[in-house]
Amino acid sequence: MPSCWTRREALLGAAALLTATRSSAQLPGDPSLDARSLTSFVDPLPLPELLKATSPNHYAITMQPRLSRLHRDLPLTRAWSYGSSAVPPLIEARKDQPTTVEWINALPETPLISHQGFMVMDAHPGESPCRTSPHLHGAHVDTKNDGFPENWFAPGHSYTCHYPNAQDAMALWFHDHAMGVNRFNIYAGLSGMYLLRDEQEAALNLPRGKYEIPLMLCDRILTKDAQLYYPNPEQTGDEEDEFYGDAMLVNGKIQPFCDVEARRYRLRLFNTANARTFPLQFSNHLPFHIIGSDQGLLAAPVATTRFDLAPGERADVIVDFSQTRGETFQLIGDGFDLMQFRVSAQRSQDESTLPKQLRTITRIAENTATRTRLLTLAEYGENMVMLLNGKFWHEPVTEIVQAGSTEIWQLANLSDDMHPIHLHAVRFQILDRRTINVPAYFATGRVEYTGPVTPPLPWERGWKDLVQCPPRSITRIIVPFAAKPGRYVWHCHILEHEANDMMRPFDVVV
Ligand code: C2O
Ligand code: CU
Ligand code: CU
Repeated sequence: MPSCWTRREALLGAAALLTATRSSAQLPGDPSLDARSLTSFVDPLPLPELLKATSPNHYAITMQPRLSRLHRDLPLTRAWSYGSSAVPPLIEARKDQPTTVEWINALPETPLISHQGFMVMDAHPGESPCRTSPHLHGAHVDTKNDGFPENWFAPGHSYTCHYPNAQDAMALWFHDHAMGVNRFNIYAGLSGMYLLRDEQEAALNLPRGKYEIPLMLCDRILTKDAQLYYPNPEQTGDEEDEFYGDAMLVNGKIQPFCDVEARRYRLRLFNTANARTFPLQFSNHLPFHIIGSDQGLLAAPVATTRFDLAPGERADVIVDFSQTRGETFQLIGDGFDLMQFRVSAQRSQDESTLPKQLRTITRIAENTATRTRLLTLAEYGENMVMLLNGKFWHEPVTEIVQAGSTEIWQLANLSDDMHPIHLHAVRFQILDRRTINVPAYFATGRVEYTGPVTPPLPWERGWKDLVQCPPRSITRIIVPFAAKPGRYVWHCHILEHEANDMMRPFDVVV
């Protein structure tokens, strides 16, 4: 039995005895900078840098250290990035035109976050702490192009992935997925945006060019000298179970501002935070339209003034700033100002449209599912044992699905936390959610519903690759497994949960 298992077994047994105090309060000798003391909205919003292909549709992307200025009044911060640019990278691709990316690991041998978690089963002691496995989140690819966590490669090595792009227009997120360390690698900056375009989208006449703005949201903690800080379990007493920072970054800047014209804009939002869900709204309660979610456009725009964006989720939003000429207001998320919009006083020419219909989305009939599974999401003991269906990562595969078949997965969240669950290589639809009696389930193994069936929210009725599973509820998704045979993963996208062991393989077989 690998020693990591023994360690984990010991941890399970000891969990009840662990009395380590967790608190977000400042520690003695706290190294962190109070990000709220920085002046807000002094840096212009950086726009992502469109990566240039080395030959048509072929990219060579080097993972490397770089310095970046997160705020006007801070010194330079050491970070890692995909490519050399100080702004987040962006790839644009077209449907059915495959992209090839040679991912080059030119990282140093010493990680940016030097402690690597002392309880994590898959921390692979002795293996390169700067290993990487780039994953294109949202892509329908086969196993070897999917950034499988154990397909990592060390500094000095590279790996080429082929992305067929045989899917609808959507926003994808490329980020690291190397076993045991991706929460540090993403935190250090291995994160980028990928916009897939298609003709249907182009025909809609949505705001485009400079009127389409990708926004990558995340939170960080900085040390007093403006370096990235990630809590060290040797100081805090236990493994970080959900990272929350007080510095809010949009496209790599702390609370930037953006001058906009008084017209319609299309915002492409990416929640790239380790753990924080952003309930998003404008400070002036300006209504907006959600036109797309993870796997592309919705059937029709949905008007709202707020919605929750969980880690790993993307949203496609149309905002009409012509209603707020001359105004200045903030995009707020989870009690923080994320960024500021300053709307020009002049009216602008606007030829874009907000179509009434976007695309056809056929709801998948439940009776097409050939199998229904009940899969639990649960936390055991007090400290960092969180499992999918009661199983650790290394246990034999239990989710084995027939290629081309449709299944219903009933995700039974037995915990008091929301878990954003993501499946690789497929897209799915959300059926409904319903609260359950958790103590009764633990006692009898039987599901007892305690509330009515709740349909998905209007902006959740498109194609998804991530679903928010609220506490003490069963969330049902219907998944056509239109994937090539192979091994993929499903996991919680709270990166600290994923690492401690809320990630499981699933096999697609013929
Ligand atoms: Cu965002 Cu397993 O991925
Ligand atoms: Cu993914
Ligand atoms: Cu989770």
